[in-house]
Amino acid sequence: MTTVLSPPTSIAASELARSADLFGTGEAISAQARPWAAELAPISHNLARGRYQSPLRYPGAKSSLAPVIARVITSAKRSREVPEINLLVEPFAGGASASLRMIGEGVVDRILLADADPLVVAFWQAAADDTERLVDRMHDEWKRYVRCGGATAVERWDYWRGWNPRPTMKRRNRRLTAAMKCLFLNRTTFSGILHGKAGPIGGRAQSSDYPIGCRWNPDAIAERLRYIGHLYDVGRLIDVWCKDWRQTLDDVPEHYPQLLPSRVVAYLDPPYVEKSSVLYRTSFDPRGGYGGERIGASGIADDTLHLSLADYLRTKAQFRWLLSYDNHPMLTQNTWLYGHDRMNPSKSDREMLGVRCWRISKRLVSTRYSAAGRVGKRSANELLITTLPPMTVPLDEQLRLA
Ligand SMILES: C[S@@+](CC[C@H](N)C(=O)[O-])C[C@H]1O[C@@H](n2cnc3c(N)ncnc32)[C@H](O)[C@@H]1O
Repeated sequence: MTTVLSPPTSIAASELARSADLFGTGEAISAQARPWAAELAPISHNLARGRYQSPLRYPGAKSSLAPVIARVITSAKRSREVPEINLLVEPFAGGASASLRMIGEGVVDRILLADADPLVVAFWQAAADDTERLVDRMHDEWKRYVRCGGATAVERWDYWRGWNPRPTMKRRNRRLTAAMKCLFLNRTTFSGILHGKAGPIGGRAQSSDYPIGCRWNPDAIAERLRYIGHLYDVGRLIDVWCKDWRQTLDDVPEHYPQLLPSRVVAYLDPPYVEKSSVLYRTSFDPRGGYGGERIGASGIADDTLHLSLADYLRTKAQFRWLLSYDNHPMLTQNTWLYGHDRMNPSKSDREMLGVRCWRISKRLVSTRYSAAGRVGKRSANELLITTLPPMTVPLDEQLRLA
């Protein structure tokens, strides 16, 4: 087990930087970070308190878990240790449903999104920083292709599936077009899956009752895109990073040292232990992420990257975190994962980085969610693990002991 003590990061920084560059995203929305605004502008948009705010239909989206997360964070804010949360960081942002809920309800002051999939990052960056051009592109795709349906729409789906940025395109156009690819495929592919083998909604023959455009309501999408633009304009969405989770967690203290240790919280929603490799381009499956199984050629489950994340969160995290996972017994039983009840950083990390030995609380939550390969929603037990002050973590019928 010694290899677990010095785990690899899941994605090499150079590899990620190359694809971020190709998709025109860079590491952040702009090379010049915006200064931290002490005064917060109000959010004035109808969607702030809406039930659905994300323009993406994301596989594994946490919209049903978001109210529970809001409850846990609100409860923590009643403590002396965490009186306010100035920044919520979401290193596995995907469709960002939890962050959008937290910011809309005023549970946190600002949000920072990050993901390792450059297509997803291009989408969020363009929605924030190039909103009106993305809205125009979205309406155009609707009028010219999706609304027509049938072969016209399926051909367009094939076009986007095969599209890759030309390096000669201007950077901003590359990012905008990658954002359009993300939005198009997300709205027209079965379960919103962007990569891999999932096909268009309604099938290639379009003979189903649910045609390819059935999840494309242009006015509703435009409103959601404009909400993201508004959040960025008023400084509530502070940035969107194209980074591996580890880089994100390492970089937050460097960018926002004034928030350490307790005015910043990370919400982490990593790919599930089961099934993630069929859903995301970047899953924790080290063999590439498509259609792989957790069981490797050796017949042994390869959970190195889940171990890596757990190791970091237990020993290196400089701010409090809240993690959601599928309820897999390995997670709470294995002491290399979250079997322990307390963080255990090294002496030097405690002294040099100020890493604390916060208690780790675990709760089981029943939710309803949609997953690839299923029609409609199904219920599941979701595991919440957190270093928020243990006395504040609710324990009741909704949040049971794990
Ligand atoms: C479960 S989804 C997040 C869903 C999101 N919470 C929502 O509500 O839509 C996991 C996300 O993690 C991203 N991801 C996978 N491996 C990653 C890594 N090593 N670093 C950062 N993000 C990663 C995937 O691209 C995917 O968007």
